[in-house]
Amino acid sequence: MKRPQAQVAVLQAADAQEDRRIDDVAAEADLKPEAATRAAFELEADGLLAVSEETLEHYELTEEGDQYVRESLPEQDLYEAAIDAGAADGPVQMGQVIGASGLEGGAVDIALSNYARKAYGEIDSGEITANQDADPGSDPEMLALEAVADGRVEDADADALEQLERRGLLDVREETVRSVQLTDDGVTALMEGVEAAETVDQLTPEMLTSGEWEDVAFTEYNVEADAEDVSHGKEHILRQTANRVKDTLVGMGFSEMEGPHADAQFWINDCLFMPQDHPARTHWDQFALEEPEEIGHLPPDLVERVRSAHKEGVGPDGEGYHSPWTEDIARGMDLRGHTTSLSMRYLSGHQVGELDPPERYFSVEKVYRNDTLDPTHLLEFFQIEGWVMAEDLSVRDLMGTFTEFYEQFGITDLEFKPHYNPYTEPSFELFGTHPETGEVVEVGNSGIFRDEVLTPLGVDCDVMAWGLSLERLLMLMYGFEDIRDVHGTLCDLELLRETEVIR
Ligand code: PHE
Repeated sequence: MKRPQAQVAVLQAADAQEDRRIDDVAAEADLKPEAATRAAFELEADGLLAVSEETLEHYELTEEGDQYVRESLPEQDLYEAAIDAGAADGPVQMGQVIGASGLEGGAVDIALSNYARKAYGEIDSGEITANQDADPGSDPEMLALEAVADGRVEDADADALEQLERRGLLDVREETVRSVQLTDDGVTALMEGVEAAETVDQLTPEMLTSGEWEDVAFTEYNVEADAEDVSHGKEHILRQTANRVKDTLVGMGFSEMEGPHADAQFWINDCLFMPQDHPARTHWDQFALEEPEEIGHLPPDLVERVRSAHKEGVGPDGEGYHSPWTEDIARGMDLRGHTTSLSMRYLSGHQVGELDPPERYFSVEKVYRNDTLDPTHLLEFFQIEGWVMAEDLSVRDLMGTFTEFYEQFGITDLEFKPHYNPYTEPSFELFGTHPETGEVVEVGNSGIFRDEVLTPLGVDCDVMAWGLSLERLLMLMYGFEDIRDVHGTLCDLELLRETEVIR
């Protein structure tokens, strides 16, 4: 029988009587562990080898666990001090016992909660008793700590190990170990003789240039054989979806906007007819920059028109806010709370020059808000900003655009709800249904810009606009429930690795 070289080496290194670890087989066969594993799976698929898998647990003390094993557990110290203070005969003042125990800071709480849990005694309204029958000298958790420290995990009590892990005194690392054993067919094959096939399993540049590739025989791969999981780096699903959103919008005729993450309040708020005393403009909602404190340049004529819109409104029947408006506030620098700041820069004609309708622009960029973290809110998220400038736009155009856009992501149950924004009229919020929980989730906000926004910018046709959340779109597409699963240090690596890309 002829077999690829790696398979022959693995067959020869394997044993018919006992399981041998793949790593040992690989070392003996002079193969990389991955190559030996691949060969083993191929041999298994042909019935020549049996591959078994086992999960090994490795226990290691944390720094805290290590400290306790060298000294003692805080609750043991507390018990000793309690006994010395006579707490076995009746309640003793807690402060006195803690002082005598030498416990400090966080160790006091640790000692108290474990003391009660282990029935070393009772703690009640500032007094402590000690249970005469308790035996901290043979505390199972201490014994387990010592067993781990001495490399005798097998002697440790399973419950105690679990408790130590919960207390953060022990780390458990899992390792998957594969072993192989020859099957009867494998033994037969070896006895009949297995030769290395002179096949080539890798095409090299040299073979291509020399022309040798035309004469060699290539190894046949069994693409159906099981293989080990490889978790390689890959594009994050958030980035993948952002790129897909961009492609979709470009396909719908939009061009991409870009601009600063930190910007003047002027572009973020004032151009949007947000009064300077609006609650959303306080530090409760937005992040202000200390350095630079203010923007270098604002177009003076635009500043003047925005000021006038805020004070007097626009048009003959215009009403402004009649509240104070100062350029100082407008110049203040913030992290943008929405990318509508980019829309203002573009619509003003100061970014890519004057625009002629029809025009369509979008961005998929990060925005920053001083929110409270919860499953649907982060301090930063990606906003899908967009606007269309044209004559005679209506809410139907806006709804139609969303329907078309979200359909491309498989979302066909959009709902709309009237809303209020200082800068759009009418305005509405968009909702979708979460595929797992069935909850209705807000996915975006939109509207048609008011004259108080457009007139100062010098735009004299309609502009419909929106800000959608990329993360919420992702939730509807993939069904996860916590935004922190895909973002930040608590993210769910398994979800990120295994989520199938939808194209
Ligand atoms: N800026 C709004 C938000 O962040 C979205 C929006 C943009 C609404 C443009 C209307 C028009 O929620």
